[in-house]
Amino acid sequence: MTVHFIGAGPGAPDLLTLRAARLIAACPVCLYAGSLIPAEVLGHCPEGARIVNTASLSLDEIMAEIARAHAEGHDIARLHSGDLSVWSAMGEQLRRLRELGIPYDVTPGVPSFAAAAAALGAELTLPGQAQSVILTRTSGRATALPEGETLEAFAATGATLAIHLSIHVSDEVQRRLIPYLRGDCPVAVVWRASWPDQQIERGTLAELATLAAKGSERTALILVGRNLAEAPDGFGESRLYAGDYDRRFRPVGAAPRFPEGRE
Ligand SMILES: C[S@@+](CC[C@H](N)C(=O)[O-])C[C@H]1O[C@@H](n2cnc3c(N)ncnc32)[C@H](O)[C@@H]1O
Repeated sequence: MTVHFIGAGPGAPDLLTLRAARLIAACPVCLYAGSLIPAEVLGHCPEGARIVNTASLSLDEIMAEIARAHAEGHDIARLHSGDLSVWSAMGEQLRRLRELGIPYDVTPGVPSFAAAAAALGAELTLPGQAQSVILTRTSGRATALPEGETLEAFAATGATLAIHLSIHVSDEVQRRLIPYLRGDCPVAVVWRASWPDQQIERGTLAELATLAAKGSERTALILVGRNLAEAPDGFGESRLYAGDYDRRFRPVGAAPRFPEGRE
């Protein structure tokens, strides 16, 4: 018996991985985390499966569900939205499973920041503009941020910022970022990326709170950075694909570094 932790993706049912669909179909028990998992994804569960929405359960109650399936010898599909490596509460469940000696594995999912970037048609790492992406959030009622992990510190790096769980404090985000990135820095807000009711608002940092007010207070990502301009320009082209760039897969010039072009 194994608990399969599965990233269910950002919402569109066809953004589930093939491995995820196969595992869900093979498990007689499915525990899923709330409204961000679409019904079509649960449709992969086998007939008669025990399907439990864990949104209203405490960690102890979730562990009781897992222990019960374990005692019955049933594999479990444990679904969380997006990918499990960020803000999934997987870590605390894995710690309990290790203590109990219950086996588990982890299947990655498409994270919401990638779905939001896709909806915008944006590359978040344009040469010469930003080569790093910071996935972050603001402090919430349930979770305080460690000292040093501040919006100000991240903004000072110039990296593209993907700010989660913060649409309800967009005015605070705007106020704190402007001194570092200036009011004309491009921003985009994407609500429910990849869902049928996906909404996108683009503008500048000085407009962020106004843009945020155009959508609901829930499930949105704020993206900030020079790469977020609607038609970005002023960035370089990747040297890797330049005609005169000598590399292993495309030897160029009289004395290439890898003459055989070998792999
Ligand atoms: C608890 S976190 C889960 C993050 C998730 N594990 C991931 O990989 O994206 C929830 C936050 O992720 C963002 N989010 C999740 N799904 C989203 C979507 N489809 N569109 C936009 N933002 C989304 C929002 O900022 C939301 O407040």
